[in-house]
Amino acid sequence: MKAQFAFVLSCLACLMTFAQDGLPEDYLSKEFHKGRREALRKNMPDNSVAVFFANPVRNRANDVEYIYHQDPNFYYLTGYKEPHAVLVIFSDNQTDINGNTYNERLYVQERNARAEQWTGRRLGVEGAIERLGFENAFVGRDFLNSGIDFTTFDNVMYFSFKDDYRDTRNSADLYDLIQSFKSQIKLINNYTIENKTEDIEVDANANVEAESVKRDTRTLSRLMAGLREIKTPEELVLLKKAVRISAMGQREIMKAMHPGMSETEVQGVHEYIYKKYGSEYEGYPSIVGAGNNGCVLHYIENNKMKVENDLVLMDLGAEYHGYTADVTRTIPANGKFSKEQKLIYDIVYEAQEAGIAATVIGNYMQSPDAAARQVVYKGLIDLGIAKDDTDARQYFPHGTSHHIGLDVHDPGLYGMLEANMVITVEPGIYIPEGSDCDPKWYGIAVRIEDDILITENGPVNLSAEAPRTSRDIEKLMKEKSVLGQLKLPKLD
Ligand code: GLY
Ligand code: MN
Ligand code: MN
Repeated sequence: MKAQFAFVLSCLACLMTFAQDGLPEDYLSKEFHKGRREALRKNMPDNSVAVFFANPVRNRANDVEYIYHQDPNFYYLTGYKEPHAVLVIFSDNQTDINGNTYNERLYVQERNARAEQWTGRRLGVEGAIERLGFENAFVGRDFLNSGIDFTTFDNVMYFSFKDDYRDTRNSADLYDLIQSFKSQIKLINNYTIENKTEDIEVDANANVEAESVKRDTRTLSRLMAGLREIKTPEELVLLKKAVRISAMGQREIMKAMHPGMSETEVQGVHEYIYKKYGSEYEGYPSIVGAGNNGCVLHYIENNKMKVENDLVLMDLGAEYHGYTADVTRTIPANGKFSKEQKLIYDIVYEAQEAGIAATVIGNYMQSPDAAARQVVYKGLIDLGIAKDDTDARQYFPHGTSHHIGLDVHDPGLYGMLEANMVITVEPGIYIPEGSDCDPKWYGIAVRIEDDILITENGPVNLSAEAPRTSRDIEKLMKEKSVLGQLKLPKLD
């Protein structure tokens, strides 16, 4: 009883500390991350070790870095948000030279008062132990002499290193350019871009093979995808919040939209609403495309000065404590769909309804796509826009569903649909200028995207608060926006 009382007191003290800091209290708990490590360990092959690295810091310009974003697998397993860190998970208990047993180790950034004055507080080893709940936490330098003999494991599992500035499809990517420059200034021996191999990893592995360590990426990808595709209750709280915040952004812009707005301003309205609700980031670069711009699937320039009387395709997602939504609405800038816009819109709506109806346990990840595609193809053929299914495909060139979570395109096994998966259903029709159809359809681009929780009782649309039918959209667009009262002085 005494111990319980002490526990309650210490919890209260802990809460008070957070409250004093004025920080949010609804992050994933250390028990969540520990539980995920245990789940991974349980599925790891015998006598294996998994090694995870934190994401690299990226330079934006001169001494300014891009906003740091932790590698989602690393965050999922640790809760650690800082760079320069390594997590090692062992399938079986290990014994150190002092006879202590352990089955995981975390190596983190060292505390450094000078660095922290510039870039903020670091958790350090103590924080990793107290806040993240690791028993075996060390500073990064300790990893250099970790004492772990990787050659004794049957499987050493790790992901490709983050050398993603390399583009193996580009015949002269930045890496080639730098290497060739180094060779031109005689810093290194001759380098020719023909040296490039199809798979950079093969090269990177050469040393590893020589030291007879069996490297295994495929198993680790599968293990992590299998865990992350099913959301735990704690994850669902955060994910639902991210989705609802995004739906609120869509609602507010529906009221605020007018033909004189720029794409940038439309984007700003969504993102302002995200911040109002405490969401830290956008889960991916916001897409706001008026008219023909909506035909570019990942259009992120968002720089058209006036949306005019076009349809505006808005694909945005708030990121809340790491979890990201992915919601698209397409609305007429002037508040009323034209005849052609409505015909296309309603096909996409019907396709989405068919797709959502197919997001049921026992169906497959491809089922919503098959259902939605059938409706889109028939609609396009009926309107005389496409001759047949093959012709229709060009107007719906992307898939219909993906998982969301810590990543907007969250990992998954893409097999059967199961309870507590959250997937998008996002059919679209895009008719760019110059398409082989009546020009009256040109520049019409529609995507409707919702985030669907799969449950024993059928699909639950988490983004349903943002109107979806053409009627409901027109109705909400008639409402007054408080944002209309924000009048700023002209700068020229
Ligand atoms: N926002 C990217 C996607 O819909 O997949
Ligand atoms: Mn999506
Ligand atoms: Mn999207």
